[in-house]
Amino acid sequence: MGFWVQGWSCILVGVAMIFSGGMCLAKGEVGEGEEGKCDIYEGSWVVDESYPMYNSTLCPHIRREFDCQKYGRLDNLYLRYRWQPKTVICPDFLRRFKGKKIMYIGDSISVNQWQSMVCLLHAVVSDQSRIFQNVNGPITTVIFQDYDLSIMVFRSPYLVDIEIEEIGRVLKLDSLKNGDIWKTNDIVIFNTWLWWYRSGRAQPWDYIQDGDQIKKDMDRMVAFKKALITWAKWVDSNVDFNKTQVFFRGVSPTHYDGKEWDEPRVTNCSKETQPISGSTYPSGLPQSSYVVEGVLSGVPKPVQFLNITTLSQLRKDGHPSMYNGVNRSMDCTHWCIAGVPDTWNQLLYAALISQN
Ligand SMILES: *[C@@H]1O[C@H](CO)[C@@H](O)[C@H](O)[C@H]1NC(C)=O
Ligand SMILES: *[C@@H]1O[C@H](CO)[C@@H](O)[C@H](O)[C@H]1NC(C)=O
Ligand SMILES: *[C@@H]1O[C@H](CO)[C@@H](O)[C@H](O)[C@H]1NC(C)=O
Ligand SMILES: *[C@@H]1O[C@H](CO)[C@@H](O)[C@H](O)[C@H]1NC(C)=O
Ligand SMILES: *[C@@H]1O[C@H](CO)[C@@H](O)[C@H](O)[C@H]1NC(C)=O
Repeated sequence: MGFWVQGWSCILVGVAMIFSGGMCLAKGEVGEGEEGKCDIYEGSWVVDESYPMYNSTLCPHIRREFDCQKYGRLDNLYLRYRWQPKTVICPDFLRRFKGKKIMYIGDSISVNQWQSMVCLLHAVVSDQSRIFQNVNGPITTVIFQDYDLSIMVFRSPYLVDIEIEEIGRVLKLDSLKNGDIWKTNDIVIFNTWLWWYRSGRAQPWDYIQDGDQIKKDMDRMVAFKKALITWAKWVDSNVDFNKTQVFFRGVSPTHYDGKEWDEPRVTNCSKETQPISGSTYPSGLPQSSYVVEGVLSGVPKPVQFLNITTLSQLRKDGHPSMYNGVNRSMDCTHWCIAGVPDTWNQLLYAALISQN
């Protein structure tokens, strides 16, 4: 895979380059002072287990002078280094999405991803005093004033509504009232999962409404699926896909159970300093991922799936653990910033520019 975007100004070369942020600008494309911040030639070499990109033994075009493996070079770590440019999101993003509104919608993992995007852009903006943040109810907005670009987050852990009624707080699996606000944006990135198994004091509802029935509780996975279907129907019938691009981000994994990665005695991520090598997670995808994929596959409209679950499962080293400013409790749910959500946003960026 390799394709040019926006004439000659940007190029994406292969999946490996998407991961390494291979999105760049040619000289002259950015304003004075910004250019140096988007230099794909500045960076370092990192080990990538998926390398080399081809098996030289199978390539018949190599001159004898160059065919190291064939002529006896025994070490092969040198084959595994991938170039990692320093900057992953270019000023190009700001110009390309000038005047746009981009909204992340969901739980605190949406906040995680939103903050990553804000920081990625903050790093490449030339006048950082022209960045403003404001809070309005469930919406927090960071405005990049020079580009009239708003990066927003809308807190809605379930996507469907919780309403206060006489009996108490009711989680309504069939109701999605904030959609009228969501659909006014140019790009929306949804997610929901984290809150579905909450109970006791952490559960922000007293009853759950499923169709005509009001229940004290129900199978949470079934409830999750029903809410996703409500969301999917809303997307299908209410969002104008000529105006708004819709993404759903896959389930963000947690790392509290070492059994998942073949370390059965581990119960949190406090000692994890390295990703899982290779590209498969021993325990496979969580059940919730299959529910998400099942519902999304039934949506006729072109909702794009940010399939970040597996790549994030490999990053047991990416969570704050006790290094958070709240109460030093063990957090193997959220992600450090900078960190894994930067990659989610690179993939979002790659998806956006590959079709615009
Ligand atoms: C490269 O191909 C040769 C011939 O098929 C095979 O013997 C060798 O194991 C391959 N090397 C790697 C690293 O896959
Ligand atoms: C979206 O664009 C297509 C093709 O330009 C057009 O046929 C369709 O009517 C548009 N839909 C809406 C809702 O404007
Ligand atoms: C986290 O795991 C470490 C070692 O695996 C253990 O000593 C510690 O008690 C755990 N902390 C919490 C909060 O679970
Ligand atoms: C998402 O990625 C995982 C891991 O590569 C894969 O198993 C799954 O089929 C993918 N889902 C979709 C809908 O492409
Ligand atoms: C610590 O803060 C987290 C996140 O706000 C919260 O979920 C948790 O209950 C808190 N723990 C304690 C012991 O206060």
